Amino acid sequence: MDTISDSEFAQFQRFIYETAGITLSDAKKTLVSGRLAKRLQHYQLDSYASYFRVLTGGTAPEEVQTAVDLLTTNETYFFREAKHFDCLRERANEARHKPGAFRVWSAASSSGEEAYSMAMVLADCLSDNPWEIFGSDISSRILEKAIIGHYPVERAKNIPEAYLRRFCLKGIGQESGTLLIEKNLRSRVSFRQINLNSTLPELGLFDVIFLRNVMIYFSNDTKRQVVARVIAKLKPGGTLCIGHAESLNDISSEVQMIAPSIYRKS
Ligand SMILES: C[S@@+](CC[C@H](N)C(=O)[O-])C[C@H]1O[C@@H](n2cnc3c(N)ncnc32)[C@H](O)[C@@H]1O
Repeated sequence: MDTISDSEFAQFQRFIYETAGITLSDAKKTLVSGRLAKRLQHYQLDSYASYFRVLTGGTAPEEVQTAVDLLTTNETYFFREAKHFDCLRERANEARHKPGAFRVWSAASSSGEEAYSMAMVLADCLSDNPWEIFGSDISSRILEKAIIGHYPVERAKNIPEAYLRRFCLKGIGQESGTLLIEKNLRSRVSFRQINLNSTLPELGLFDVIFLRNVMIYFSNDTKRQVVARVIAKLKPGGTLCIGHAESLNDISSEVQMIAPSIYRKS
């Protein structure tokens, strides 16, 4: 099989930028060729240029999703950036006696660890008060994993012991080394495929939105558009959490920073 040439790589850079808003630096060339190699094998093609023709030629429309799945990075784990979950708990406690469901969105949920971490916090502090958690991601393959809620235990080292006992089932026998999110909690979280780089569907308004560790892949222009779309789904006074390595400087004036990586909509 051929290695990927600079011009072939540039085609995939453009494809993923136009589709998902993701900027792939030149340093990602090896990573991209490695991830797409299995699609060349699948179609028995001998060049990345031929695969690009399949991808964009309209004869295999489902291939676009497959390529997006392969070109996105889904690194995540439970209770990543713990401070945001403390903030979520505070907001949920404040909402306890307010009317209506407390609604939270994990806007680039990857395989679901973020959304289930949120659900553990809300089940703990809101119990019978109405609450909803919604997770979304551009990758349909990763959302299939999120819906199943079955993980290697290494991802779970930040789950507080009491939550592990209450919300997770430890795998035994063939499943040892894994954990399954308990059915009741799983049923409180819904997932749906959403591309943040396009007009968002009707989702209602949220009290808290996590938009974490996805903007790092976006150009400033894409970031501005995505943040505007996401903030439009936040209730007035609602809270937006972004990744610690991300910033909203010069990106939006509709939210004010209340702590590093935590913003409030006016
Ligand atoms: C590194 S993971 C972050 C997961 C989680 N939010 C966290 O902080 O642990 C980034 C996720 O963003 C998703 N993503 C990338 N571009 C996207 C887009 N345009 N719309 C929606 N999700 C996107 C990827 O599929 C990936 O699952």
